[in-house]
Amino acid sequence: MAGNESQSTRDIQILSALEEPALLLDANGRVFHANDAAHEYFGAWIDGQSYVSVLRQPDLLAPVESAFARKAHGTARFSHSSGAVETLFDVTVSPLSSGKGRPFVLLVFRDVSALRNEESMRRDFVANVSHELKTPLTAIMGFIETLQGPARRDPKAQARFLGLMAQETGRMNRLVTDLLALSRLEGLARRKPTDAVDLRAVIGAAVDALRPIADGVGVTLHIDAPDSALVTGDHDQLVQIAVNLIENGIKYGAQPGTVTVCLTPIKREPVLRSAAWRCEVRDNGPGIPPEHLPRLTERFYRVDTGRSREQGGTGLGLSIVKHIVNRHRGRLRIDSREGQGTVMTITLPRHEKQSADSGRLS
Ligand SMILES: Nc1ncnc2c1ncn2[C@@H]1O[C@H](COP(=O)(O)OP(=O)(O)O)[C@@H](O)[C@H]1O
Ligand SMILES: [Mg+2]
Repeated sequence: MAGNESQSTRDIQILSALEEPALLLDANGRVFHANDAAHEYFGAWIDGQSYVSVLRQPDLLAPVESAFARKAHGTARFSHSSGAVETLFDVTVSPLSSGKGRPFVLLVFRDVSALRNEESMRRDFVANVSHELKTPLTAIMGFIETLQGPARRDPKAQARFLGLMAQETGRMNRLVTDLLALSRLEGLARRKPTDAVDLRAVIGAAVDALRPIADGVGVTLHIDAPDSALVTGDHDQLVQIAVNLIENGIKYGAQPGTVTVCLTPIKREPVLRSAAWRCEVRDNGPGIPPEHLPRLTERFYRVDTGRSREQGGTGLGLSIVKHIVNRHRGRLRIDSREGQGTVMTITLPRHEKQSADSGRLS
């Protein structure tokens, strides 16, 4: 008897040590023990209840019945919803046999929702990339046909179609460049950058590079910043952030209009738990309706697909920015009011050399 008791105490300890929800059913099919994770999912009421009333889904009841009747091992899918969240489990059903009588049955629930989400994200991603490439490809094929046929002896039309083809190949090239940047970033995600980079110089270079484009559409670029702003970062990636955000301000802000980049030192950023630099890129454009804000950093998410395409956008810019900011252990914040413009705010940890010297700066 004493042996049995210590055996069942040990069984219970094993279940409690499991992170996955686990239920041990006694020979009568009642919940003999449920670990904390199982209580969290099913509620506290399940102790001593029949498995039929706890599990209720026929797909899972069948293997449990076979485990009791024939000591058969089994697996099943089980979905559990609480509020708006649906969790999907792979359940293993194992009879724990001790001699001739009906066995105890152990159910272990492995949460596979994350895996499934990842799978469906990957599927969506491949579908999106294919679609984004297919659109310019189809256009180019059409232009080639026209050049071979109707425009064969029309140099003016030929020049026009070649120009359009250059545009479409440019789009495909940008798309592939952005995709490569994203995949490189994914590989680097866990490696924190260590260089001291002057964010002021980075912004200056980005503004200089974009000035011709801004001039072309009547946008004035301003910088409001101290002479230097050292952050711990990766120079090329910080340039990518600055170019992406300023370019968005030019493309989607007011034309004519103004894009201002502000750099402000923060003594102690509560979330980063360190001294930081805050970089704001502000435009006075039409802004972004609030329902889009949470999704802007998703790959290929655009508010106005037509406008983005027209401007040569890939829909990947903010997703790249987000990845870079995460790698730098920084923060990205998007504020926008319809009709009043957009502010994109990046906060990055200040480089130690300059934080030690922060009295001078803040
Ligand atoms: N400053 C801004 N003002 C208004 N809309 C913006 C701004 N920045 C970004 N957006 C919206 O967010 C979308 C995603 O931006 P991004 O990821 O850079 O892609 P892309 O610029 O290639 O379209 C844009 O298509 C645009 O609809
Ligand atoms: Mg962009």
